[in-house]
Amino acid sequence: MKTTRRDFLKVSSLTGIGLATTSVSESYGNVVENVRKNKAQKFNMSGYAAPKLETVRIGFVGLGNRGPAAVNRMSHIEGADIKALCDIRPEQANAVKKKLEGTSHNPQVYSGNADEWKKMCERKDIDLVYIATPWHLHAPMAVYAMNQGKHVCIEVPAAKTLEECWQLVETSEKTKKHCIILENCCYDFFELLTLNMIRQGLFGEIVHGEGAYIHTLIDSNFDKDGYHDMWRLKENFRNGNLYPTHGLGPVAQAMDINRGDKMDYLVAVSSNDFQMGVMAKELAQKDDFYKAYANKTFRGNMNTTTIRTSKGKTIMLQHDVTSPAVYSRIHKISGTKGSCLKYPQPGKIAFGHKDWVGEEEYKQLEAKYAAPIVTRVGEMAKKVGGHGGMDFLMDWRTIDCLRNGLPVDMDVYDAAAWSAIAPLSEKSVANRSNSVDIPDFTAGAWKTNVPVDISLEKGGTTKVIM
Ligand SMILES: NC(=O)c1ccc[n+]([C@@H]2O[C@H](COP(=O)([O-])OP(=O)(O)OC[C@H]3O[C@@H](n4cnc5c(N)ncnc54)[C@H](O)[C@@H]3O)[C@@H](O)[C@H]2O)c1
Repeated sequence: MKTTRRDFLKVSSLTGIGLATTSVSESYGNVVENVRKNKAQKFNMSGYAAPKLETVRIGFVGLGNRGPAAVNRMSHIEGADIKALCDIRPEQANAVKKKLEGTSHNPQVYSGNADEWKKMCERKDIDLVYIATPWHLHAPMAVYAMNQGKHVCIEVPAAKTLEECWQLVETSEKTKKHCIILENCCYDFFELLTLNMIRQGLFGEIVHGEGAYIHTLIDSNFDKDGYHDMWRLKENFRNGNLYPTHGLGPVAQAMDINRGDKMDYLVAVSSNDFQMGVMAKELAQKDDFYKAYANKTFRGNMNTTTIRTSKGKTIMLQHDVTSPAVYSRIHKISGTKGSCLKYPQPGKIAFGHKDWVGEEEYKQLEAKYAAPIVTRVGEMAKKVGGHGGMDFLMDWRTIDCLRNGLPVDMDVYDAAAWSAIAPLSEKSVANRSNSVDIPDFTAGAWKTNVPVDISLEKGGTTKVIM
């Protein structure tokens, strides 16, 4: 039976958060999911071009591990004006301001209490709010900023709950402000090369994709001096694929998800937790600080989530940030004519079942099919840095789209659909891996939305300041 836009289906009575609202109350516990199945689209943000901005005036919020590097990257982009820096901890914001001394940027600092970011969002002379805070603050901050007339960039995942995903969609449609998910892996060089080859038809029809986030974070999660206020450790009280977008983003673009196809349903299974609970107990014996974590139930080491799309394709995602496994985001694409696989590095390409192409042929393919953005700014991106340059490509492309009045590559439907995998996988895991429907955040527009433009035929005019 179909529910309507405002019908909420309570699927469990777990403790923790209630409905997410625009309040910034912390919410780390298991998710009580409320599912809105249908919606009428107010306005289609896919393919929407906002009015050109010659200068993009930016306010940053969240200047911990990740935020300061984003500020630095933006300082290398023509037309990006760093107007404001916000972090609840003054020392974080002030340190970033100091680094900008001697540049053309003179940002105002917002700090000292948990709501200062609102004042920054309320300023009239800011166009874009760039959010790199803990996950539970992403959607509340983005919704508030869009309601204040700002475009937003949100670190991954863009939202924690389905309700928050819907709020992002509704607010972006209502305000006509871009809600960009900062999925930097979509700009990794191998992912861009193979996406371009897919677009040229070299892999035939894409049948299957795989992605992952396998990255040992157990020590960082338990580090008192690591993530602010232990936010990332607390997130691990949830059980599912908490961080799906690094693996999913590039696969979704290869499969034109939300733009020709959509994710239909998923099945998720989690292993037990074999390490986090043990570590919490061990630490608590030596240090009272950890007693609060000693009796918690933690996410299983490995989560495997399988998605089927409306056009009958499949995606496999994995998440393990505990086991001491070698880093991998997988990135496998399998088509009727070709396939690719990355991790281990370097990536491989094949046009048959016998073997991957050799080094020489790979180089030829790379020369012929390098994505235009890589040809244009790839070398400079490597110099500015950020995960080998992909972070810079992402920021440069974002600013270039805003300056040229172009649709953004990763819009609010991507932000919602990719982020929704986390709460939906939790729901499946909590229900013996039963299948769970994935909402259509585009309200049917996926059938006619056009694929992301990777041609750089429009725009590409923004200079890199070296
Ligand atoms: N895309 C990537 O490759 C990548 C890599 C690392 C982190 N991230 C993402 O970046 C985000 C931040 O991660 P991090 O590692 O920097 O975490 P962090 O804990 O180091 O930084 C978060 C910052 O937010 C600040 N903060 C908390 N509450 C605030 C409030 N109310 N107002 C203003 N500031 C507040 C904290 O003081 C802290 O400095 C997360 O969403 C994470 O998933 C993405």
